Amino acid sequence: MAAVRKITLVEENSALSDLQYQEHVNPQWVRLLNALQMNVRYRRCAGVELHAEDGRRFLDFLSGYCVHNTGHNHPAIVSALQRELGQEGPVMLQSHVSDLAGELAQRLCSLAGGRLEKVFFCSSGSEGVEAAIKFARAKTGRTGLVYASGAFHGLTCGALSLMDDAFWREGFGPLLPNTEAVPFGDLKALEAKLRGGEIAAFIAEPVQSEAGIRVPPPGYLEGAQAACRRHGALFVLDEVQTGMFRAGPFLAAHHYGLDPDIVVLAKALSGGLIPCGAVLMSNRIYDSVYSSLKRAIVHTSTFSENNLAMRAGLATLDVLDREHLGERAAAMGDYMRGRLREALAGYEMVDEVRGLGLLNGIAFKAPRKLRLRVPFEGFRNIHPAMFGQLVVMRLFRDHGILTQICGNNFMVLKAAPPLVVDEEQADEFVCAMTAVVDLMHTSATFWTEALGLARRVGNI
Ligand SMILES: Cc1ncc(COP(=O)(O)O)c(C=O)c1O
Repeated sequence: MAAVRKITLVEENSALSDLQYQEHVNPQWVRLLNALQMNVRYRRCAGVELHAEDGRRFLDFLSGYCVHNTGHNHPAIVSALQRELGQEGPVMLQSHVSDLAGELAQRLCSLAGGRLEKVFFCSSGSEGVEAAIKFARAKTGRTGLVYASGAFHGLTCGALSLMDDAFWREGFGPLLPNTEAVPFGDLKALEAKLRGGEIAAFIAEPVQSEAGIRVPPPGYLEGAQAACRRHGALFVLDEVQTGMFRAGPFLAAHHYGLDPDIVVLAKALSGGLIPCGAVLMSNRIYDSVYSSLKRAIVHTSTFSENNLAMRAGLATLDVLDREHLGERAAAMGDYMRGRLREALAGYEMVDEVRGLGLLNGIAFKAPRKLRLRVPFEGFRNIHPAMFGQLVVMRLFRDHGILTQICGNNFMVLKAAPPLVVDEEQADEFVCAMTAVVDLMHTSATFWTEALGLARRVGNI
């Protein structure tokens, strides 16, 4: 009887908070999660595991889009934060020299190496990209910005100006002038843009995440860096997803032997617990912005350098180092891609398994067989993301695996678990993925399910 009462209370509470969220935050988000059957209340999250109030257990293969490199609620980071709060220190005074910011900046620069010697702290990836735009303009005295097609750099106006996917831009213009896209991987196109001498910076993700886990062709980033240097433009890397050992080394830049002028970090920087971003740059860039006493705080932000974010950052670096999570990301990434390639070989709708470290994508393609092509095209016509969302939904509901498709490429499913993932969990993901891929090739239920989804979504 008590158990029944408890369930009722939980259900009542969750219905109430859904309602409040719908009334006052984002009703469309609730609609979408309901349609995908992914509106779950989580009770406890630890490592790779998410435990729901209804008793289900999920494996997180999304990591909040590469936030949870150290795993959910890592005990060492949680207790570092608890200790910090217990000290009743100057958490957000904004009128003092933050020793924690100094310590974190020193450690980030020493890990990053090369010319990266100064740090501007902020609270998100977009805010970091905004800073990078301003700093590049201040340093070069130029206004032009070149970015790679398909990029995702954030949704504030400046960052959005560096993204050519129409979906994100629609209704929000005009955006920054003098911003131009070049195809990712096309050095000639980049060189042509740089030649005019008006470009302040070329900004790119070393591995494009939302574009579909696009790994750069050999020599591309090295060539882009050299072209920037030749033409006096800054070479800026957005490592918001790829950094913090996600791709194996501390920065994906290190994998390619690059020496960027500016690097933007965020997401995993503070253990997935406190918002934090960091823009790493050379002394010369920093000096061009903070060039005199009068300009000491010419670019700043209220929450930057706050003690909780800085403490979380320091504790996160300790965990990443102590648990060798970079080496683990490289090894587990190789293992997972190997197993996926083996298991998915021969399925006509699987195009490729690709990635670097634990940032991986399973790319699908339109089927050739008529039996599959008809439903595939039908659902693609309803919405281009419908097919990918069916895969996401099946993995979640039938196999307890949380994933998502890439934001700018709906035919690629992202697999980016916390770096603490173990072989057993990776195997569980491979088995689930194989089962779903097999189902889409062999069973009509996979496709009839799409009808149900289309009905639930209704007017998209
Ligand atoms: C590569 C990259 N850069 C920047 C951002 C923006 O970060 P934020 O959402 O913290 O503003 C994102 C967000 O997903 C991203 O993936």
